[in-house]
Formats: sequence, structure tokens, C-alpha cells
Amino acid sequence: MSVVVTRNPPSIDPAVQRQVFGALPTGVTAITGLTSDGAPRGFVVGTFQSLSLDPPLVTFCVDKSSSTWPTLRCLGRFTANILSTEQLPVCRALSRKGEEKFRGIEYEESPLGTPRIPGAVAWVDCEVLSEVVAGDHYVIVGSIEELVAGQGEALLFRGGKFGEFTLWPTPASDGKA
Ligand SMILES: Cc1cc2nc3c(=O)[nH]c(=O)nc-3n(C[C@H](O)[C@H](O)[C@H](O)COP(=O)(O)O)c2cc1C
Repeated sequence: MSVVVTRNPPSIDPAVQRQVFGALPTGVTAITGLTSDGAPRGFVVGTFQSLSLDPPLVTFCVDKSSSTWPTLRCLGRFTANILSTEQLPVCRALSRKGEEKFRGIEYEESPLGTPRIPGAVAWVDCEVLSEVVAGDHYVIVGSIEELVAGQGEALLFRGGKFGEFTLWPTPASDGKA
């Protein structure tokens, strides 16, 4: 595990940092794993991203206080379930604390043995490749082992609220020089 060294931090107000970055919409992704005794574990992130095409890599950031990440780290694999607008209840359940949060949530096992939650926009099955300590978070890099597109619209999060993407009407001049 490598560590990002930072210079003396300037006095940035965390509330302002939250407000500024809260204006930037993110997707909502459930990171899930299955323990050796068959118990599903998971938590929600807004930081899941594609990182590299060659080789195919993804990344997300997890708070050091996460109680689920240490389990998934040991398992060494996870599925990133990109949640759809139909899956707000899944988001709410998995963003709680506690081992019971998967109760009532259905899943299917991926070829990697990780939980895929039906109804997601996509499932990305990954092996944990590396982890970097960065301040109060870990930055996780995963290598993509399998990638499946589902259906529906991605659930979005901005400023503490959930929503969906709205396309602008295409102006008549679009596509014309
Ligand atoms: C929309 C949304 C996005 C979130 N993004 C992150 C994130 O990127 N990283 C993170 O560590 N926690 C994030 N959280 C908070 C975690 O989901 C929450 O702390 C989680 O339930 C921790 O549970 P655990 O202790 O079982 O890991 C997010 C929560 C929500 C609702």
C-alpha cells in the first residue's frame, strides 16, 4: 500500500469543500462482496469511475472509517453495481451502517463469486489491484474481470439529493455546419 504525501494543508473549511464538490453530480454505485461463509456485504460510493482502458481499470474512494471495506479488501474482489433510478431503496439500505443492511436485497453471484444486484445499469466485476492512503480515504484501484451492461437510467446524486439526467432538446441546427 503506498501513501500520498501532502504538504501542510491550507486552512480549507470542510463545510465549504463539501458544498463546492456537492455541486458536482456523481453516479451512485454499490460496491459488493460475498464472504467465504456466504454473507453479502456492501456499501455505496459516489466516487466510482473508469480509470484506464489498457489495461481496463476502475477506481473509487472509501472513507477510512468504512466498516465494510476491510472485509472486501481481504476478499480481494468486488462487484461495482452502477445503480439505476429504480434502486434508490438499495442505495438507502447499503449506505447505512451495520451487517444487516443487505437484508431484503436480492443478488445473483457473478462468475467471480461477488453479488450482482438485479436492476442495475451495469455490473463491473473486479479484482482489487492496489490501494493508496490519501488523507482520510483510501483510493482503490480495481482490474476489470467482467463487465455487463444492464438497462435503465443511472441514479445521480448532487448536493445531498438524488435525481436523474435530463437531456436537453436537440436544437434544429445540431449536426449542421
Ligand atoms: C450517494 C452516496 C455517495 C457516497 N459516496 C461515498 C464514497 O465515495 N466513499 C465512501 O467512503 N462513502 C460514501 N458514501 C457513504 C457510505 O455509503 C456510507 O458511509 C456507508 O454506509 C458506510 O458503510 P460501511 O461502514 O458499512 O462501509 C456515500 C453515500 C451516499 C448515499
